[in-house]
Amino acid sequence: MSKRIDAIDLNVYYGKFRAVADVDITIEPKSVTAFIGPSGCGKTTFLRTLNRMHEVLPGAHVEGKLLLDGDDIYAPGVDPVAVRSNVGMVFQRPNPFPTMTIRENVLAGLKLNGQRISKGDADAVVEKSLRGANLWQEVKDRLEKPGSGLSGGQQQRLCIARTIAVEPEVILMDEPCSALDPISTLAVEDLISELKEQYTVVIVTHNMQQAARVSDKTAFFNIAGTGKPGKLIEYAETSQIFNNPQEKSTEDYVSGRFG
Ligand SMILES: Nc1ncnc2c1ncn2[C@@H]1O[C@H](COP(=O)(O)OP(=O)(O)OP(=O)(O)O)[C@@H](O)[C@H]1O
Ligand SMILES: [Mg+2]
Repeated sequence: MSKRIDAIDLNVYYGKFRAVADVDITIEPKSVTAFIGPSGCGKTTFLRTLNRMHEVLPGAHVEGKLLLDGDDIYAPGVDPVAVRSNVGMVFQRPNPFPTMTIRENVLAGLKLNGQRISKGDADAVVEKSLRGANLWQEVKDRLEKPGSGLSGGQQQRLCIARTIAVEPEVILMDEPCSALDPISTLAVEDLISELKEQYTVVIVTHNMQQAARVSDKTAFFNIAGTGKPGKLIEYAETSQIFNNPQEKSTEDYVSGRFG
């Protein structure tokens, strides 16, 4: 289920603007990898290349290779829709479909993929996904109520349930807790620690404590100035990035001296 990601000399463009330059990184399966770095250094941009969401924007493109367990997801003939069902994404703001019930929200990804399943199978997917997202106990008696009626933290866990319902191999999260209160944040962090037993998890975060708490490895990105591309500066075990970084800019960033 869980797959390794290799980016090889990856460059990411918006039209002529190169937003991210020359990234080489291996992201291990069954682990949590955190992307950190100052605003505008390309964390979201790079994250969105990992499931081919980047190219949805006009003029946006990628150069280099991105391998999922050795297979290039940008090779000719690869269906981006299939890539996105293997590499799921959770966004900064919880975005349940407002007119759908909790149950329909969990099943939304399967429907989008055109999968037809029986009511019994659908019930099983709903329960398993909501249990996987640590939300089942809180919502099991209100599955037919609108997803928008949940608290922010519950909505984010609902979005995670929707992501895992399609059984992806990789889960990408772009600042998934930035709109949440501390209690909901802890609930989502606990969940992330559980998800890594099955999935490859990549999380973008501005919260250093969060990166230190949840991730096994940390990638520090930085930018040399406006208009310059973001670069991967240092990538190592999270404890090393926070306690014994090799680059001065990493040390400055993690100790709060800039960014
Ligand atoms: N749709 C877009 N079109 C053109 N340029 C973009 C687009 N989205 C982002 N950029 C530019 O790409 C660069 C990287 O942006 P990105 O959003 O990836 O940064 P980030 O590290 O995620 O920042 P933040 O921490 O603020 O979320 C920035 O210079 C940004 O202005
Ligand atoms: Mg971002």
